[in-house]
Amino acid sequence: MEDSAKVAVLVSGGGTNLQALIDKIREGRLEEAKIVKVISSRPDAFALERARKAGIDTAVAAEQDEVLKELKASGADIVVLAGYMKVLPPEIIESYRNRIINIHPSLIPKYCGKGFYGMRVHRAVIEAGEKESGATVHYVDEGVDTGKIILQRRVPVIEGDTPETLAARVLETEHEILAEGLKEVIKNIKKDEGGK
Ligand code: GAR
Repeated sequence: MEDSAKVAVLVSGGGTNLQALIDKIREGRLEEAKIVKVISSRPDAFALERARKAGIDTAVAAEQDEVLKELKASGADIVVLAGYMKVLPPEIIESYRNRIINIHPSLIPKYCGKGFYGMRVHRAVIEAGEKESGATVHYVDEGVDTGKIILQRRVPVIEGDTPETLAARVLETEHEILAEGLKEVIKNIKKDEGGK
């Protein structure tokens, strides 16, 4: 790996987590990373606009074999799932073992796995009367939200919260820990490479 790790970001939606990474890199607070490509599962994802505005190469790949092709072509060292709403096939997991991370809007193992994504997570947290929620950065393995946890941070649920107000509060924390988790992964890869 060169001085800056080459990162490919997979998205499906608004891309605020992608934006947080772009901003932190631009501000010199995440110098160890360089985003080489943003790949979206949907052509209408606003995340693509954010990437283009930042001068980052983009691709739309709905099919998983296209995703692997794009990843390989990008030369990425690390893959970040930032609001990516598809499950990656084993072939991709195997090709980037311990180099794919995901941000999830709950305190895994709570409110994760099949059916728990995006606003559904926050709705379930509120319906269950939880007093706190949070966000988790974890490695991606063959399961859904089952990979090893890298970083987790709690966020309070406040009286009167709606799924939307809770989502907004959790998102702020996601933006912080996604960058921190990415730093941690880059540090670990460099340490492993140094040891070889
Ligand atoms: C984020 O809250 C992210 O944690 C969640 O989707 C949102 C995407 O927002 N991801 C999942 O639920 C994955 N299971 P963004 O597009 O603004 O980054």
